[in-house]
Amino acid sequence: MGNSNITWHQSAVTKTDRHQLNRHKSCVLWFTGLSGSGKSTLANAVDHALFELGFRSYVLDGDNIRHGLNSDLSFRPEDRKENIRRIGEVSKLFVDSGHIVSSAFISPFQGDRELVRQLFEPEEFIEIFVKCPIDVCEDRDPKGLYVKARKGEIPEFTGISSPYEIPDNPEIIIETNKLLIDQSVEAVIAYLREKKIL
Ligand code: ADX
Repeated sequence: MGNSNITWHQSAVTKTDRHQLNRHKSCVLWFTGLSGSGKSTLANAVDHALFELGFRSYVLDGDNIRHGLNSDLSFRPEDRKENIRRIGEVSKLFVDSGHIVSSAFISPFQGDRELVRQLFEPEEFIEIFVKCPIDVCEDRDPKGLYVKARKGEIPEFTGISSPYEIPDNPEIIIETNKLLIDQSVEAVIAYLREKKIL
């Protein structure tokens, strides 16, 4: 909802200026997938690799952001939508500041992901489907949440009692039950090089 009493201030330093200073472009790597699919692990590994290579990067992660900025939101579809909307806007600020931001959120609804995509220039939004069969996620169950969800102790749990809509046309698919973590990181970095972001 726009407010007609607020005007947009143009920055003196542009995104392009920051790209020139950094010697690389900025973008959002949007990791989507089931709980336990490996989004946070992969996002952090990519971030670490980028940092080691001397690029400006940062991670935004569902579990962490829900402790602070989005601590007022539940897992109802309307709240997930608002969760993703806010993270989309925060990601946009990071991209504007010249960073490669790895945003790791289940983001189960195609429409919500599409709204985030529309905030960006086409080459700035890179959707990464972190693909892993639910039975593998359930076996991993790193936080013990699937066990609780199966017992009916967590309502609207993604993949069990709430849907996950598979991405239609993601830029990258990483199958975490087939690749080693280093191979997955390499695939993402190779994509960034191919697209001349790095
Ligand atoms: S999203 O659907 O709104 O994108 P988000 O990525 O922020 O989800 O948070 C997901 C994390 O919250 C999961 O990794 C899990 O640890 C925890 N969680 C708690 N309750 C639920 C639930 N009902 N469904 C999915 N994840 C949940």
